[in-house]
Amino acid sequence: SPVATLTVSGKQFEKDSYTNITPTIIKQMSRKLHQQKCHPIYLIKERIVSYFYKKYIGRTGNPVFSVYDNLDPIVTTHQNFDSLLVPHNHSSRLKSDSYYLNSNYMLRAHTTAHQSDLIASGLDNFLIVGDVYRRDTVDSTHYPVFHQCDAVRLQTQHELFPEEYGLNVFEKKPDRRTDDKQAEHTVDAVRILSYQLKTTLQDLAKALFGQDVEYRWVEAYFPFTHPSWELEIKHNGEWLELLGCGIMEHQIVAKAGAGDRIGWAFGLGLERVAMRVYDIPDIRLFWSTDPSFTKQFTVDDPHTPIKYQPVSVYPICVNDISFWIPPEGEFNSNDFFDIVRSVGGDMIEEVSLVDQFLHPKKMMKSHCYRITYRHMERTLTKNEVNKVHNEIGCKAVEALGVDLRV
Ligand code: PHE
Repeated sequence: SPVATLTVSGKQFEKDSYTNITPTIIKQMSRKLHQQKCHPIYLIKERIVSYFYKKYIGRTGNPVFSVYDNLDPIVTTHQNFDSLLVPHNHSSRLKSDSYYLNSNYMLRAHTTAHQSDLIASGLDNFLIVGDVYRRDTVDSTHYPVFHQCDAVRLQTQHELFPEEYGLNVFEKKPDRRTDDKQAEHTVDAVRILSYQLKTTLQDLAKALFGQDVEYRWVEAYFPFTHPSWELEIKHNGEWLELLGCGIMEHQIVAKAGAGDRIGWAFGLGLERVAMRVYDIPDIRLFWSTDPSFTKQFTVDDPHTPIKYQPVSVYPICVNDISFWIPPEGEFNSNDFFDIVRSVGGDMIEEVSLVDQFLHPKKMMKSHCYRITYRHMERTLTKNEVNKVHNEIGCKAVEALGVDLRV
């Protein structure tokens, strides 16, 4: 029988016993929340990027880190696991934990999947931002798609220790691996690198959560770093794990062609940060396309302080209104907005100008506004909305002298 195939992002994959990706997940792959201007995930990405751009500045004033936020989430199991020394029997490889296209291809379960390729391409300092996928139940803090930011910083002997220090990054010949360091690295190198790593991440936490954020370091394990740590921050009286990090396994760095360097790396979840920074109570809200959510994050500057205001769970009712603008006098949309608010009160969620045109013969201007009605406490009936909508029309005629088009 012919082999069954699957098409995802325009590429064909042969199905096998590993295939478990679902149509819903495939649909979500196109959303790219971290690339949508004015989405909270995008805003947090921008804040992290701007922190790194400012913190590490090159010889000519240019940012040292480069950002990769458009890499294909479809990766090989080699990229996601093997290139990072994840053991063959590691639980994260289970079909039950990840989305597989087939036994060779999967949706990345972490942005770390790209680290070794980017090092191999010659980069020493980079950030990776992207959507990651893990099979999980859906509740207010778990969702099968979320976003991560990874970083790598590689340094040479020469960059780390000026000649006159007489210090070395690498042991003359590999030493013993201990809890504190890998066999190849010297104690001195690990000490200075972990200091750089930890201060960089503490300052990042302060930049995101405010200068007085409480934090602590916890020992951790990752197959791709040693030693490894997790940074936790205190939020509403509870310790919350923010990110994982560590000194990169020398074997990974060397295999990618940068054996003369030592590096640190970290990986952080963007939803976790965004939920705390903006008071977003439910991870599912990130996927909302409702303007009552999205408009709260419509800002030019990602550093604008925003606190999310919960929106009603009751359905919206949308009604348009069109009228001719009086030819004489100054008409201002804001005057109409005020009328809408004063007549509609709490029932009004949003008003926007959706269309305008100039009648070429009459030389008259027409505006069309879209009014979104929604009540915080109950479902509005069509009748009740129509009554208010008509009243808004009457008030606009009366107060602004417009001519309703019906
Ligand atoms: N990839 C790890 C995770 O998803 C985070 C991490 C990245 C840890 C890089 C150390 C170094 O949890």
